[in-house]
Amino acid sequence: NKIDDQILVIFGASGDLTARKLIPALYHLCKGEYLPKNFIVLGASRTDMTDEEFRNRVITESKFFKDEHKSDKACMEDFASKLFYQDLGGDYNSSYEPVKQRLLELSKEHDIPENYIFYLSTPPSIYINIANNLSAVGLTDQSNGWKRLVVEKPFGYDLKSAKKLNKGLLKCFNEHQIYRIDHYLGKETVQNLLVTRFSNSIFEPLWNKNYISHVEITNAESEGVGSRGGYYDGSGAFRDMFQNHLMQIVSLVAMEPPYAIEANAIREEKLKVLKCLKGWTPSRIRRNTVRAQYAANDGMKGYKEEDGVPEKSKTETYAAIKFYFENWRWEKVPFFVRTAKRMPAKVTEVIVHFKPSPKNLFDGKQENNKLIIRIQPNEGIMLNFGMKLPGQGFSVENVDMDFNYSDLSEDDVPEAYERLLLDVMQGDATLYALGAEVEEAWAFVDPVLEAWKNDKDIELHQYKAGTWGPKAADKLLGKFDWRDPTED
Ligand code: BG6
Repeated sequence: NKIDDQILVIFGASGDLTARKLIPALYHLCKGEYLPKNFIVLGASRTDMTDEEFRNRVITESKFFKDEHKSDKACMEDFASKLFYQDLGGDYNSSYEPVKQRLLELSKEHDIPENYIFYLSTPPSIYINIANNLSAVGLTDQSNGWKRLVVEKPFGYDLKSAKKLNKGLLKCFNEHQIYRIDHYLGKETVQNLLVTRFSNSIFEPLWNKNYISHVEITNAESEGVGSRGGYYDGSGAFRDMFQNHLMQIVSLVAMEPPYAIEANAIREEKLKVLKCLKGWTPSRIRRNTVRAQYAANDGMKGYKEEDGVPEKSKTETYAAIKFYFENWRWEKVPFFVRTAKRMPAKVTEVIVHFKPSPKNLFDGKQENNKLIIRIQPNEGIMLNFGMKLPGQGFSVENVDMDFNYSDLSEDDVPEAYERLLLDVMQGDATLYALGAEVEEAWAFVDPVLEAWKNDKDIELHQYKAGTWGPKAADKLLGKFDWRDPTED
């Protein structure tokens, strides 16, 4: 696709995300010759820096670049020449007139129309201020070029704040100009959920309550909260991972076929299925949700001993939940989702468990079919089914048909941010969340968070760091078991 010449303005350019994810992703796009002919990145933040100092900070001195910096000097120099920096004068609230003037100068010098992406990689508390400031100096005006706004997560802290944020941004930008990032949607395997479901005639006919017994999603991280204790303690596993990334995965698993692979079609279907989520009652929250915190184990600190975490913290680092959709496809099919830090491995997988065959004709216990979609790592798909064991009689053994994503192409799987940045440059919002989707997700999550805060009967369990979580989460599954993702 031809991409318009444009300028990407990163607010919060001196921050961690810029150096860790955005600049490396842009460099790979540059190396792969995906960037438009005339393209500039203008970093903006409160730190006083020259263009040269900015380039040094995000390339030469950056620990995310050490090897690449040496391996392809010409390409790196070309990329560095596209980076510029504008100091915001110590404050995100002072007038953006200097930013505007700088953009006009750069546009003129590099022959770029006033096509600007504003990427907000700042604390969310100032998103609305930034949008207002852009609008106040006319930087949202589209007469000489398009304008797009990208916002990072967290998008709100609860439904009320998410609504306020949407409302504030919509005063300055239209919905189609706002790109709400969820980096899980940039992952190849998450996108592949759509292809698996809708390009194969063998799965979709079975993808419903008639054939599926339950759906299980595990999102585990082996790391603890590390240096992010301060942020994390105000968030917790449910806000940090479930409301956004996992709700996105759930919607892709559960949605109806879209009328086309196109932003509105897909996002509307995701929104529709979220609207079918069965609502909560206090007792259902008590029975169907489990929260826990990791305790010291095997040389690993407990959550409460981590830097920045208060000694009496009640924030969960583990959340497991059982819920239902109330629609024709999924009536009475339970969905189980768990997410946690300090588990035995880093792994995300979706497991579709099929119902048993109508009658067990063969010897021994037969396991039900499973489709395991490995989001990360070892990206791929595994179909588990019964086969006859060679020899006398009819003994059944369950075997795996295993597909590894890496077998499909020699190319490295692109980083989520590469895909997402390229999409916003092209004006493709398919992999970005709608405001209404985000609000719907909060509407589902809010009552659980409220109950966890206020309902004295909901225990905050403990689990030993490096284990698969509390016993209470096993009970949540009733007659089923969580799959151990490390077992194969
Ligand atoms: C982020 C969360 O959004 O996602 C982090 O804030 C989490 O707490 C991270 O570690 C996980 O992302 P990934 O891509 O490593 O699974």
